[in-house]
Amino acid sequence: MSIRFDEQTGIFKLDTDKLTYALGVFGPGYLTHLYFGPPVPDTDLRYLLYRGWFDSLSPYAPGVEDPLFSLDINPLEYPANGAGDFRISALSVRNADGNSVTDLRYTGYTVTRGKPALPGLPAAFAAEDEAETLTLHLEDPVTGVRVQLLYTVFAEAGVLTRSARIENAGAAPVVLERAYSACFDLPTMNFDLVHLWGKWAKENTTARDPLMHGRQGIRSRRGMTGPNHNPFLALAAKDATEDTGEVYGFQLVYSGNFALDLETDTRGCPRVLVGIDPEDFRWLLEPGESFTTPEAVAVFSDQGLGGMSRTFHRFYRNHLMRSPWAKKKRPLLINSWEAAYFDFDGDKLVAFAREAKELGIDLLVMDDGWFGDRFDDHRALGDWQVNEAKLGGTLKQLVDRVNALGVQFGIWYEPEMINPDSDLYRAHPDWAVCAPGREKSLSRHQCVLDMTRRDVRDYLFGEMTRVLSSANIAYIKWDCNRNLSEAASLQLPPERQGEFFHRYVLGVYDLMDRITRAFPHILLENCSSGGGRFDPGMLYFSPQIWGSDNTDPIERLTIQFGASLCYPISAIGAHVSANPRTGIETRGNVALCGTFGYELDPGKLTPAEKAAVKEQVAAYHRYYDLIHEGDFYRLTAPTEDPFLCDWEFVSPDRSEVLFTRVVMRRPDNFYQPRRLKGLDPDKFYTDETTGQVYSGALLMHAGLDLSLAFGRLPQDGASLTRHLVAR
Ligand code: DGJ
Repeated sequence: MSIRFDEQTGIFKLDTDKLTYALGVFGPGYLTHLYFGPPVPDTDLRYLLYRGWFDSLSPYAPGVEDPLFSLDINPLEYPANGAGDFRISALSVRNADGNSVTDLRYTGYTVTRGKPALPGLPAAFAAEDEAETLTLHLEDPVTGVRVQLLYTVFAEAGVLTRSARIENAGAAPVVLERAYSACFDLPTMNFDLVHLWGKWAKENTTARDPLMHGRQGIRSRRGMTGPNHNPFLALAAKDATEDTGEVYGFQLVYSGNFALDLETDTRGCPRVLVGIDPEDFRWLLEPGESFTTPEAVAVFSDQGLGGMSRTFHRFYRNHLMRSPWAKKKRPLLINSWEAAYFDFDGDKLVAFAREAKELGIDLLVMDDGWFGDRFDDHRALGDWQVNEAKLGGTLKQLVDRVNALGVQFGIWYEPEMINPDSDLYRAHPDWAVCAPGREKSLSRHQCVLDMTRRDVRDYLFGEMTRVLSSANIAYIKWDCNRNLSEAASLQLPPERQGEFFHRYVLGVYDLMDRITRAFPHILLENCSSGGGRFDPGMLYFSPQIWGSDNTDPIERLTIQFGASLCYPISAIGAHVSANPRTGIETRGNVALCGTFGYELDPGKLTPAEKAAVKEQVAAYHRYYDLIHEGDFYRLTAPTEDPFLCDWEFVSPDRSEVLFTRVVMRRPDNFYQPRRLKGLDPDKFYTDETTGQVYSGALLMHAGLDLSLAFGRLPQDGASLTRHLVAR
């Protein structure tokens, strides 16, 4: 890993053993992009700046009369608006004169060891010897706007992170109208666009679409990530597959309005912009003030989409998930929601815990309905006082009863929300998000609290702290069940209303930061009507995120496989529920491709199901390290193959493999040996179920034959696992 500047050529070269990223300073200080891809040696890369004669209508760059250089054509690192680049710009600043022309010029650089934190924002971290950071300094001489671009490369990963800090060093106020985190100008459009789309109960569905001339984008304006699109996109070379070919993956470490925008110009060169969606964004910078963008993560893989995913997984596990629970063995939990919904009391929960304990489950989560007058979803959000009448005593008494059975206790919160029918709303109607003079739109009978306000956050922190310190709470499920409309704050002046959405997210991060610092032992799981806030920003605070309210095991395969494109399996919340579509074995095997847990009434399980659960609990412990630390391989894709869904975990030393097959629908031809991946060709693996010994090379080239394993007529929804161990 190194970052070097060649004074002679004006080229910065960032190298790891998996990627090279190069950029240069051209002419009077234009920061130009040169290269992003597999490692290349130190040669003169300046020719990569040129993209042929520029067209007659394109302006020369200010201060440069070179028919081969125009801001309109050449690849740039952080293009600003208005000086002759007509592609989408990374930065647009409305200056005191009322125009938005900005012309950034390079003024200097610094290189530091390690990875700086970003103020108020989740961001990757690294020890001093694990990463190096380049900071480039730019300035617009007319407005005095200064920009610092941060680039970090990490020793062990094919990953680059980028962010920008914009400072008003001039004498007059300016307004940021767009401030993306990073721009990537690539040289060819020979790519497909891979992204994740969905909706409630269908989150993270993978799509692969051709790249087109013009603009495309993956965006959210919901105030939150939302289930509709994920802040992720990959450009996969046309011939790239799951295992081969070049793939660039991009994500934004953020939980609010995001944009991963693409513009492919007439030369067929795509520009990728990653950052906050500019559509509802305005940020006033008074002289001396600065703004820091969220962090963009860029991954390069020459081993297809699978290689990209494994790079993201490792990187997030080691450099983004900051919770101690990211690396510590997590408790196996059972959640009360699908078992009882709002219909529970203390005795029922204790009964769940007693049954759960017998099955080997470690932790009981009391979901929605424990506070205020909350017997359905019409009221009481905001009244975070324990309903002792419902629980049959204090929270401490209930938790002690559960703990006495040897079961830990977790609790549900939806801190950002407020029902109009709540004591909190009656006391502070102005705390709900609203636009003056307009009716508030409800969703699930609730409004959103104005998280931009310090007093609101202090109230929530105080109430949560009181409850969390009153009993032995080991886990929180942080839910969020609606998006933001009538988005405005009564506390912000008119000229700062454009800051509302970003300030909202910063407010959520502030509260999450305070809670996780005050209660570091508590395992935080994020949730938003399922996977509606599945993003790297949340991953920073909560090492697991509920994947979906859809617990149908077959539909879950598409959701979990999609999420695995960029998120580690150890982060994908997955439970066995009472869903009847398949037997409990398959529900268990699907949930094992995630955090694993239960979402049912354990007292209603049949003796055979209880026996199956005990086996699943044993499997959870046996394979925990393999699943949490191993490499994940998608062997088929449920969006492409409607019949068989196969996947595999391989231990880091390649001595252990856990293979799983789910028969989504019985195929006509069941003789389909599955080639395994990522094994050691020289090792010999024993199948623990059959005792058969296979060579790693054979398993990868001839495959594992399971045509007899399901009997003569395999049932839809059947599944199996195979644990293969190298001698
Ligand atoms: C939505 C979540 O996705 C569910 O798991 C559950 O916690 C409910 N909210 C509770 O209201």
